[in-house]
Amino acid sequence: MVVVRTLLIVGALLLVAAVLGLLDYSATAVWVLVTGLCSLIAYDTVYLARLHHWSGLPRKRELPIGIGAWGQILDRISRFMRQDAIERGDTAAELERLHAAVDLLPDGLVVLDRFDHVQWSNRAAQRIHGIFGTRRPIDHFVRQPEFLEYLRANNFSEPVALSLPGQQGRVFAMKIEPTVDAYRLLITRDITDANLLEQVRRDFVANVSHEIRTPLTVVSGFVETLMEIEMPHEEQIRCLELIKRQTVTMERLVEDLLTLSSLESANLKAEASEVAIGPLLQTLIADSRVVSAGRHKIEASIEAVESVMGVSSELDSAIRNLLTNAVRYTPDGGSIAASWRVVNGEGVLAVTDTGIGIAAEHLPRLTERFYRVDRGRSRDTGGTGLGLAIVKHVAQRHQARLEIDSRIGVGSTFRLHFPKALVIMPTRLRQSAELTEPQTDS
Ligand SMILES: Nc1ncnc2c1ncn2[C@@H]1O[C@H](COP(=O)(O)OP(=O)(O)OP(=O)(O)O)[C@@H](O)[C@H]1O
Ligand SMILES: [Mg+2]
Repeated sequence: MVVVRTLLIVGALLLVAAVLGLLDYSATAVWVLVTGLCSLIAYDTVYLARLHHWSGLPRKRELPIGIGAWGQILDRISRFMRQDAIERGDTAAELERLHAAVDLLPDGLVVLDRFDHVQWSNRAAQRIHGIFGTRRPIDHFVRQPEFLEYLRANNFSEPVALSLPGQQGRVFAMKIEPTVDAYRLLITRDITDANLLEQVRRDFVANVSHEIRTPLTVVSGFVETLMEIEMPHEEQIRCLELIKRQTVTMERLVEDLLTLSSLESANLKAEASEVAIGPLLQTLIADSRVVSAGRHKIEASIEAVESVMGVSSELDSAIRNLLTNAVRYTPDGGSIAASWRVVNGEGVLAVTDTGIGIAAEHLPRLTERFYRVDRGRSRDTGGTGLGLAIVKHVAQRHQARLEIDSRIGVGSTFRLHFPKALVIMPTRLRQSAELTEPQTDS
């Protein structure tokens, strides 16, 4: 470059001297200038050719090294490329993090192009639909007629709900959302649990309405009769007694519902205290004898002094429900036995009766709200079908296990197994044991 520059300067000086008439080297000056200009063009051409060659390489290598002005230009390009590589690296890392996060989503996500070919899918979509690779049409993986119809209809305001092969018993909602550049996002969500919850909620509302409507119809019928028909005093009393019975049923229903909702919302640990199960069972057995009014032989066997860490009112309610059931579903003359024992540190409370028993197929559903083996019979005896649901919730809150053994016509046994951690020696007994322990001199 220095040579070219020198040639150009010398040529220019000779030309000026020739023009001023100082030297007569005009031909030499032109020759030197032309040589300089040609060298300059050749120099630039070489660099342009090298740059052109470099730009055609599949993976960008280091830029050719230049000198002079070209050196500065190439140096700037090189710096710009390094900066760009750093930024691109950052973007790639960012993209990788984003993919990893999207892969953790439980919903399936598939990016579709304008021809509904898979462009990208997350792990959940690959698991749910068996998608692998890209560029295959989505209907290659999702062949359900409902979905194909949904795709064809081109109306994506609502999702389509369907079950998928290999995902037995589960329901999925699939929805297409438009994104940028005619790309679309296919979202697949497992809505089995939400559906189930919604079903439970609907059943619950229907059950409560039904349970309240039945006594209400009876009450309003009798009230109308009392208002419209003249009847003797005894007859009126009989009607009022029937009304009273129905209102008691409604009151019990509301009470049980409130108990259930408080069991679901309250925090056990905050309210837990030492509950002496033996004395509690004695009291409840005495109450059951009153309810039975001598129709059954009712016995209690308290073999353990241990208490349970829990909520007294809840344990009272659970045991009372078990005893009420035993009385209610045991024909006159039958026997009922309740016991409290500690076996291998576990507290076992059992209520056994010689009643009508329960067929095996009903056992798994017995603790569902409003579930009754014989609706008519239970209602006749004033049952709302919430008793065992309460027992189950109390058991769950005390980490206890409810076990049911029953045989039709022979009788039933309901057992609550309290875990070791909650079964404790009462403080009163612990303290007196400590007092009677021999003192050792230190
Ligand atoms: N000891 C038992 N012997 C036979 N059947 C029983 C016994 N305990 C419960 N059942 C059956 O289980 C069903 C559910 O019992 P649950 O205590 O939940 O409701 P309920 O007794 O009908 O009403 P309530 O809400 O007043 O207790 C009963 O309707 C009855 O059919
Ligand atoms: Mg009951």
